[in-house]
Amino acid sequence: MERVVITEGPEETIRLGEELAGRLAEGDVVALVGGLGSGKTTLVKGIALGLFVRQAVTSPSFLLARTYQGRIPLHHLDAYRVQHVDEFREAGLEEFLPPEEGITVVEWADRVAELIPPGSLWIHFTYLDGERRKLTIRR
Ligand SMILES: Nc1ncnc2c1ncn2[C@@H]1O[C@H](COP(=O)(O)OP(=O)(O)O)[C@@H](O)[C@H]1O
Ligand SMILES: [Mg+2]
Repeated sequence: MERVVITEGPEETIRLGEELAGRLAEGDVVALVGGLGSGKTTLVKGIALGLFVRQAVTSPSFLLARTYQGRIPLHHLDAYRVQHVDEFREAGLEEFLPPEEGITVVEWADRVAELIPPGSLWIHFTYLDGERRKLTIRR
């Protein structure tokens, strides 16, 4: 099953995230792939809204992971700075792949692909132009 969505601006990507959140269940992993500025963190903001997270979602930056509390916990992982998948393992992040509670979203998931469980929702982002982004969603 594959779904392709073109969003015309950040608000539409946020709305898509909210919609996806409504259909995610505890133990789900969402793997995000795409270049800098392609909209990954923006989608996570929408997922957080959809899970009734009240904290502001930012890029984990120097952290590899953050957990937000919502309807269920949202674990936000970012492999941007990971040079080798072992760094993710050593940080104990396999605990969230899959999570026992809540859902996990991983930015730059292609860098830690071997840790992403089978059955995860993969979303590839492509920068089109200006504020247009193509999202290809596959389970
Ligand atoms: N259609 C769109 N979807 C998502 N973000 C968009 C879109 N159009 C413009 N943007 C802007 O692009 C940037 C995306 O940044 P971010 O979500 O942090 O990307 P990433 O996490 O992939 O590096 C934001 O500044 C956002 O406002
Ligand atoms: Mg990001």
